[in-house]
Amino acid sequence: MPDDLLIAEKLEAGYPGKRILLGVDFAVRRGEAVVLLGANGSGKSTALNAVSGFVRPTGGRILLDGEDIAGLPPHRVFAEGVVQVSQARDLFPDMSVEDNLRLGAARRKDADVPALLARVYLDFPRLAERRGQRVRTMSGGEQQMVAIARALMGTPKILLLDEPSGGLAPRFVSEIASIVARLKAAGTTMLIVEQNIKLALDVADRFLVLKSGLVAERGDVTRATSQEAIVRSIYL
Ligand SMILES: Nc1ncnc2c1ncn2[C@@H]1O[C@H](COP(=O)(O)OP(=O)(O)OP(=O)(O)O)[C@@H](O)[C@H]1O
Ligand SMILES: [Mg+2]
Repeated sequence: MPDDLLIAEKLEAGYPGKRILLGVDFAVRRGEAVVLLGANGSGKSTALNAVSGFVRPTGGRILLDGEDIAGLPPHRVFAEGVVQVSQARDLFPDMSVEDNLRLGAARRKDADVPALLARVYLDFPRLAERRGQRVRTMSGGEQQMVAIARALMGTPKILLLDEPSGGLAPRFVSEIASIVARLKAAGTTMLIVEQNIKLALDVADRFLVLKSGLVAERGDVTRATSQEAIVRSIYL
């Protein structure tokens, strides 16, 4: 089996009258976490949405396990095993935690929902305690946990996370960071957009910097990787 689970080749995407991605190349290997960095508006969410099918690519290929999924509608991409936690989280605020979690598996016909719920509750004890609570009444950090847990209910081959720490208070940022680190340790393949560079570099094996519609910088994350150099490549 090839090492690369996801490959984007010369990916182009945008919106009517607005070209955003002008030919972006990247790959995510099995079990790897790749982080996508870039300034606000550089196209990070557009890139994730192009992979997940919420934005239709205008050029290039997106190979999942060697099969081109570019242009498939979101439910077909999901069926192939690409599960996204969007920047807006898209939870159902007036439903309970558990009903939101169940929806994560609703499109998996053969899902063993009780077993999936049991596993998610083991990983997220806070959600187990709050399974009957309406999502609207939860903190931002807890809602992000629900969103990640719901994605896991969809048994992803690859998990796309769009700013998991976005908009959260510092104590929740570290909690979400440890959740992402645990997913990584468990072998989850992830493509992560994250503005918190420290969080990103703590978990990622490799990084990409998007700028002007292209990958401006990329590399392996090692102990020698300089946060300052990356920040400079993002903003200068
Ligand atoms: N649905 C849309 N219609 C038109 N333009 C859009 C749409 N979504 C995003 N854009 C524009 O495309 C560009 C890239 O947006 P995108 O959301 O991909 O950036 P981002 O890197 O995720 O930014 P942020 O860090 O703020 O989340 C921005 O200029 C944005 O205004
Ligand atoms: Mg974004």
